[in-house]
Amino acid sequence: MYAPAADRYQYPDFYRRCGRSGLRLPLISLGLWHNFGAHDSYPNARAIACRAFDLGITHFDLANNYGPPDGSAEVTFGRILCEDLGPWRDELIISTKAGYYMWPGPYGEWGSRKYLLASLDQSLKRMGLDYVDIFYHHRPDPNTPLEESMGALDHAVRRGKALYAGISNYPAAETVRAAKILRELGTPCLIHQPRYSMLDRWVEPELLGTLAQEGIGGIVFSPLAKGLLTDRYFQGVPTDSRAGHDPRFLRPEHITDTVLAKTKQLNDLALARGQTLAQMALAWVLRHPTVTSALIGASRVSQVEDCVGATRNLKFTGEELARIEQILAG
Ligand SMILES: NC(=O)c1ccc[n+]([C@@H]2O[C@H](COP(=O)([O-])OP(=O)(O)OC[C@H]3O[C@@H](n4cnc5c(N)ncnc54)[C@H](OP(=O)(O)O)[C@@H]3O)[C@@H](O)[C@H]2O)c1
Repeated sequence: MYAPAADRYQYPDFYRRCGRSGLRLPLISLGLWHNFGAHDSYPNARAIACRAFDLGITHFDLANNYGPPDGSAEVTFGRILCEDLGPWRDELIISTKAGYYMWPGPYGEWGSRKYLLASLDQSLKRMGLDYVDIFYHHRPDPNTPLEESMGALDHAVRRGKALYAGISNYPAAETVRAAKILRELGTPCLIHQPRYSMLDRWVEPELLGTLAQEGIGGIVFSPLAKGLLTDRYFQGVPTDSRAGHDPRFLRPEHITDTVLAKTKQLNDLALARGQTLAQMALAWVLRHPTVTSALIGASRVSQVEDCVGATRNLKFTGEELARIEQILAG
């Protein structure tokens, strides 16, 4: 029988307010995109989720299509809830999303009301939940009126199937429009989930400012660049690494000499700060107050522990930030 660590809330500063909402999220959240599918080890998935909760990680992020196969990460998480974490449902923030391909035919992806609401019902069923805390539109849909997609999020909240609405991968201009529609409907946009790391800074010129202006929290995904901003690939490509065994999104050819030259220099700087590279990469995205949470993935318990350790040193000197810029510029 799982019993959570009694000291899991010992660090009140581990939670940051999400935009202008009343909701606080942990600085480190756990995503179930990888390592929670039907073919992954269930005991390992369970151990990662339970250890995360023990460390104060209250937020678990899913999507309809996480697996593989699609939907299976929600099934795995549903089992973890049923067998272990369920009694602590009121201490958990569980999110899911819809937007990418899920089932055949014209209603199985993108942003129609038909697809979004059907998908949410499926997600709830897979996880054995009455409601999720956050329901996201996973990506903008150029062919569906934004009013329709945002109307579906508002409907989900009004029906009690989600507590908050969020958007993901929306550029700045669409974010402003989506926020306005949701505000007018009476369901403010809680959160935006964009990709952001030292190796992918597309949010910096516009989106982060937009989020601050709109009072929307940012939860940034792949802050470790899927593992590149760690020491994982310093001695080659381990067979048990993401690039080593799951070539869908990170392949060995992405681990170039140029990337490694930068990450090894970043690693030296991290060590000088008394951190691992992963910890420094997380602290770096969290230096923006608009970034409410860094959304990590993990293939083992020790990685979650290491990542949570990032929050022991979130401060950077001007010299350190300048050195990071210099390294990234090559
Ligand atoms: N909204 C969207 O469109 C979208 C898209 C992608 C992801 N997401 C969300 O973001 C979450 C995180 O994405 P991600 O998995 O790409 O994030 P990430 O944190 O950038 O990468 C996670 C990977 O980094 C490695 N790692 C993690 N901690 C480590 C540590 N302390 N030391 C060494 N290596 C470490 C592990 O690689 P190994 O597996 O090789 O050990 C792990 O699987 C997803 O689960 C999902 O919830 C959202």
